[in-house]
Amino acid sequence: MNGNIIIKNAEELVTCSGFEAKKGKEMADLHIIHDGAVLVKEGQISAVGSTNEIVTEIENSKLDLSAFDTIDAANKAVLPGFVDSHTHFVFAGYRAEEFSWRLRGDTYMEIMQRGGGIANTVASTRKASTAELIEAGIKRLDSMLSIGVTTVEGKSGYGLDKETEIKQLEVMSHLDNIHYVDVVRTFLGAHAVPQNFKNHADAFIDYIIADVLPEVTGKNLAEFCDVFCEKNVFSVDQSRRLLSEAKAQGLKIKLHADEIVQTGGAELAAELGAVSADHLLQASNEGIRQMSEAGVVATLLPGTAFSLKQPYARGRFIIDNNCAVALATDFNPGSCFTESIPLIFVLATLYMHITIEEAVTALTINGAAALDRQDTIGSIDVGKKGDMVVLEYPSYQFIPYHLGVSTVEKVIKTGNLIFDKEKGGIIHC
Ligand code: NIG
Ligand code: FE
Repeated sequence: MNGNIIIKNAEELVTCSGFEAKKGKEMADLHIIHDGAVLVKEGQISAVGSTNEIVTEIENSKLDLSAFDTIDAANKAVLPGFVDSHTHFVFAGYRAEEFSWRLRGDTYMEIMQRGGGIANTVASTRKASTAELIEAGIKRLDSMLSIGVTTVEGKSGYGLDKETEIKQLEVMSHLDNIHYVDVVRTFLGAHAVPQNFKNHADAFIDYIIADVLPEVTGKNLAEFCDVFCEKNVFSVDQSRRLLSEAKAQGLKIKLHADEIVQTGGAELAAELGAVSADHLLQASNEGIRQMSEAGVVATLLPGTAFSLKQPYARGRFIIDNNCAVALATDFNPGSCFTESIPLIFVLATLYMHITIEEAVTALTINGAAALDRQDTIGSIDVGKKGDMVVLEYPSYQFIPYHLGVSTVEKVIKTGNLIFDKEKGGIIHC
């Protein structure tokens, strides 16, 4: 496990080359090298080109080949590792019964308003020990890894009190240290109004600002701050108040915006210079225009629309209006209990009218940009981390075509082969 690897003969080396978010038309260009090769040294990509070019370069540089693993990717496509830039994967308890209630016609908001939904997971997560949350977290990360996710974002928000919010963030920090998958942490203390602040959302925002946020930033527990900006949850004014304070304390900004009702969340994201605004099912034309101008990544979550039987966010329209779109799972125990990148991919292409090329961009370089990591991950470029997937098939076009099933055969993380279907799964060492 020295981070040295050579991948050669790739039928398609889908580099997604770039160091910033791709907007609008740029999303269609995947910068593919046919018969491509990549050299990774000590975890970092050090050469990318045709197999001929890279083999010659290796010969000329008299590299000690015994220190390198070699993967022959003949007849296979190679892509950057997937970036799942919006999840809530650290939680305890499940809400399977809510799914059946929704099948019989109850809405997500109705369930939430009668004390189920997020509050249900909050009760279980408050009771769970750190060790239990870590154990569940490892299993979920293993599952993500085995379908090609090399970086995941995770949110707190199932505590809604200082102790549990901190516990969730510390669990994610620990998971980041012990697991192959990189975990980016987001503080979502304003995910719902807890029972003890019922009908006092403003007072709850005061409490988060005064008591919880300083502890989160003081201990450097999160990189982003997020809020559920939604009718009957947190208003635009309440969201602005919290996010402005978080920004002043050095956090970058994300929003759950315009998911169920159009409240002006997209406009707020642009106003605050958020890194991303997520969901956007109901975002206004003006909000989308402002996001494009302000360079806010539009993170779309088709699994949630699918699971809640809501109309999908207007993916085609958002790209045509020159926004950068990322796709993510929204993995959580309520509105969208899936870590399945293949499902997200096929839903985006079939129902959001996003092309296959755009969906690849949305799950790689634009996913990285949604986490402000466009400089270090999300593409196969010299200087970036050696995070890649090798598909079982010769083309990226197989990703949605194999409906809802992972086409990933191998996962390379920081230059090490850590998952191989042919070797029985995750390679533990
Ligand atoms: O992104 N919308 C709010 N938060 C999550 C759902 C969380 C839950 O239901 O537990 C979401 O869909
Ligand atoms: Fe979410």
